[in-house]
Amino acid sequence: MARIPDAFIDDLLARTDIVELVGSRIAIKRQGREYSARCPFHDERSPSFTVSPTKQFYHCFGCGAHGTAIAFLMNYDRLEFMDAVEELAKRAGMEIPKDTRSRNESGESKDLYAALEAAAQFFQKQLAQHPAAQSYLDKRGVDAENRARFAIGYAPDGFNALKDALGTDDRRMKLLEKVGLFSKNDTGRIYDKFRDRVMFPIHDRRGRVIAFGGRVLEKDDGPKYLNSPETPLFHKGRELYGLWQVRQANSKIPRLIVVEGYMDVVALFQYGVTQAVATLGTATTPDHAELLFRNAADVYFCFDGDRAGRGAAWKAVESILPRMKDGRQAYFLFLPDGEDPDSIVRKEGAEGFDIRLQQATPLSQFFFDEISKDISLGSMEGKARLAERAKPMLAKIPDGAFADLMQQRLSEMTGLRMNSALPDTPLLTNAPRRNTAPPPKLSLVRSAITLLLQQPSLALHIEPPHLFAILRQPGIPLLCELIALIRSRPDINTGLIIESFAGREEQASLQKLASQEFSGEPEHWQAEFNDALLQLDKQTRMQRIEELNAKTGRSPEENNELRELLAARMR
Ligand code: UTP
Ligand code: MN
Repeated sequence: MARIPDAFIDDLLARTDIVELVGSRIAIKRQGREYSARCPFHDERSPSFTVSPTKQFYHCFGCGAHGTAIAFLMNYDRLEFMDAVEELAKRAGMEIPKDTRSRNESGESKDLYAALEAAAQFFQKQLAQHPAAQSYLDKRGVDAENRARFAIGYAPDGFNALKDALGTDDRRMKLLEKVGLFSKNDTGRIYDKFRDRVMFPIHDRRGRVIAFGGRVLEKDDGPKYLNSPETPLFHKGRELYGLWQVRQANSKIPRLIVVEGYMDVVALFQYGVTQAVATLGTATTPDHAELLFRNAADVYFCFDGDRAGRGAAWKAVESILPRMKDGRQAYFLFLPDGEDPDSIVRKEGAEGFDIRLQQATPLSQFFFDEISKDISLGSMEGKARLAERAKPMLAKIPDGAFADLMQQRLSEMTGLRMNSALPDTPLLTNAPRRNTAPPPKLSLVRSAITLLLQQPSLALHIEPPHLFAILRQPGIPLLCELIALIRSRPDINTGLIIESFAGREEQASLQKLASQEFSGEPEHWQAEFNDALLQLDKQTRMQRIEELNAKTGRSPEENNELRELLAARMR
């Protein structure tokens, strides 16, 4: 099999900006010369994931994940090597050398995708030839545009329509079987799984058909919906019906609406709401939650208003709490009895549906409403029960303002002070937490250290000896150590500084300060840094003056020193 030439890969990576690529997938922040983020490959509270624009690679100090832009796409978008290369080539406007393109998808999965695509086309052709199926879609108000958009088709009645059309040889039969399009009876006879059903192909995030859902035309004709089984290409807990179409229809996706059914997605599109996706007859999984928030910052979960609906919503809460990084918002919308998004949008139009969305319950409110539902908060016992229930769930929320606010709300309800998820280290007492704006004022030492972690090279412009080194204040020894470290390794970056504190208790504090957004313009950092050190020098003089003042038998030298210090203070 042909290989992609190394030269092409080198060229491709040279023309790819890894910062832009990573930044299009996760929130990254500039950190001096690098960018940092919470690692997308493991659960963490403080960012140890860095992206270097100069070295064009990423590295996670937490879990060790590292690699180039290609590796990032493979791991983050779950792409095969060739798909990742193709994606990057597309971004860079480059053409992959011809004879190597077919190495795409390993032989078999390529054949499986092709079998599914052929089946989808077969079903679409059948729809054109079956008036009953067409009139069913007419009745449900799905127009030609949306039939095409969703590649809706029809699987004919009988047991062999697909089999006869596409299972023309042994190899093809095996492929169709493997992608879940056949059933087998007790005697081992193989026949079409989907019969006399309207067919909804399920696309993956690259637009390839990976499975189907089929709906009966008539009530009482077997299960209303049949879905493809799990196959090598289809894991229903990881896929969202309609996501491909949403991505095609929107260049930016500010919000996603999660509904329960295929027809809900299609009907919402039909009425101009083009941001709906459906879980495929399963509860919202953590994989779904991740996929949803990777695509949109605001996610609205739509459920029936009945008990089952609220139960399903609570399942969704459990899946999304660990994904609630700051900047993400989740809402819950409960529909009136007997309605679903399909019926609502038909009655009320996009506008009416939108109004309902605007009135949706925020996650925080739904969480506390549900968790305290059968608890009497008037008693100590009730409050204790609430705390006991809420704590483990709140602990799952990633560090940040939302986590803080949820803790705070729980404290208000119970009167208990919750221990903060982040124990304060001595250096960090009263330290500002990430992402809380505006940041509280930093102490001098802390702001000097924070500045150094933003831009280590600041230390290169100040000459030792440093008067402030003898200042008795927490953090001074650490500041001096950092300055010395940077001056001995002028090219060191923040990640490496933090790494050099591995195993020491200061590391956590440093990591937190490093991840802090330092207010002000980078051009002013050097001046701010120098100024902080001058202030520290001043404090050191004051400390010495007090020392000398407190002394009874001063030597002539000490008297001289005191005079000079007092004079310097005037300046
Ligand atoms: P619903 O029963 O709520 O149906 O199933 P619906 O979406 O409103 O369907 P229409 O409007 O009658 O056509 C919601 C979802 O649950 C799954 C399907 O994914 C369906 O879209 N489901 C439902 C099944 O997998 N099998 C079933 O038999 C029924
Ligand atoms: Mn419905």
